[in-house]
Amino acid sequence: MPGFIDTHTHAPQMPNIGSGQQYELLDWLAEVTFPMEARFADVNFAQQVYGSVVRRIIDCGTTTCCYYGTLHLDATKKLADIVYARGQRAFVGKCNMVRNSPEYYIEPSTEASLTATRELISYIRALPLNPRTREPLVRPILTPRFALSCTHELLSSLGSLARANLGLAIQTHVSENASEIAFTKRSFPAASLPAPPVQDAEGAAARETYAGVYDAFGLLRGNTVLAHAVHLENSEVELIKARGAGISHCPTSNFNLRSGCAKVGMLLDRGVKVGLGTDVSGGFSPSILRTVQDASVCSKVVAFQHQPSKDELDPDVSAQNDAQTQHRFANRQLPVATLLHLATLGGAQVCNLAARVGSLAPGKAFDALVVSVRSDAGNPAVWGAELDAALGVGASGGETGMKGGRVRTATQELEGMLERFLFCGDDRNIRRVYVQGRLIGGKEFEG
Ligand code: GUN
Ligand code: FE
Repeated sequence: MPGFIDTHTHAPQMPNIGSGQQYELLDWLAEVTFPMEARFADVNFAQQVYGSVVRRIIDCGTTTCCYYGTLHLDATKKLADIVYARGQRAFVGKCNMVRNSPEYYIEPSTEASLTATRELISYIRALPLNPRTREPLVRPILTPRFALSCTHELLSSLGSLARANLGLAIQTHVSENASEIAFTKRSFPAASLPAPPVQDAEGAAARETYAGVYDAFGLLRGNTVLAHAVHLENSEVELIKARGAGISHCPTSNFNLRSGCAKVGMLLDRGVKVGLGTDVSGGFSPSILRTVQDASVCSKVVAFQHQPSKDELDPDVSAQNDAQTQHRFANRQLPVATLLHLATLGGAQVCNLAARVGSLAPGKAFDALVVSVRSDAGNPAVWGAELDAALGVGASGGETGMKGGRVRTATQELEGMLERFLFCGDDRNIRRVYVQGRLIGGKEFEG
């Protein structure tokens, strides 16, 4: 199957995984996250931690990953080096943070933040290209941590840097937590913002919103990755759609930090690009499989909180919608096909890499996983072929399989295995991980 795409994770937070889940976002940053990230001032520590972090993420089946480093230039260069050497496809960014951080973990000035950012971009762009494709596997990404860690001056300078580098991707957080949103609106009142570079109805309508802050500084565009988007206002959804930005849905983190449930079906229906993010260590698993499971649960929570409209209750209209596009799921639960889409091609769209990865379509790079759902993979929760044999279901292709007396096609059998893998699988089932045709990880990989 195609490799997984993690559109949002924090490499330096991996040592914190599984701790601090009693906090909401802002306290969690102060109490748990910033103290750990500060330790990456020590490049040797960074090298040691990042080596095992990247290995682990690849073994979870992530072939493309959007990484946040810390605010440190040298440690983030090490992260890029390690990702490059391991052969993963990735975006690597250094956090810009000049305010609302403790004095032990903050950049000394806007100028210092920009200089380090420019240096990281040059450093990553100087890594040798893949000799066959003449393309980079590791790319730089602008990473204003979130609006609250930046001043107007810093966002303005980053906007200028982005305008001078139209191909440069951008990643940040948006609309994750109620206190964060209120604090952001207080810190960036509409009257304090510059006129946005693109002036249109969508921009004007969303001027007083969180996403409107990024837009005012030219940081909302087709290669921007916005993490969370839990509490978006209607005008923000329209703005994000108009700018072509993508959303990284991080349900494990959004449950864990009590942030809320993003309305992914609605976003897909409105044509916004959506992928998945593990958001380690807001999320407590580096595996996109865990994110898929939580994305499903999240969509069920949204579904049972939602009052369906008359149209949605009309079976004819619903059936028609489902047939027209696989994404007509508004506030109903996301089906397995859509979960798979989010974990692969949806993520590729968010990264603007859908022409190269996200599916096994001819002409794309071979970024792929070899998955086993047999019991000898060592995960007793997934034992597809053996369970089928015990139930008397034909496992050998063709239209011979029986399920409750009904014939099951090979496609239905495959779909059943996929569903069991997505919901019960883990890294034991991921035997081989390939990026650009190169074997770089998985249970059978030695290196
Ligand atoms: N907002 C700003 N920084 C962070 C972070 O590290 N994790 C999450 N989940 N949200 C953030
Ligand atoms: Fe995050």
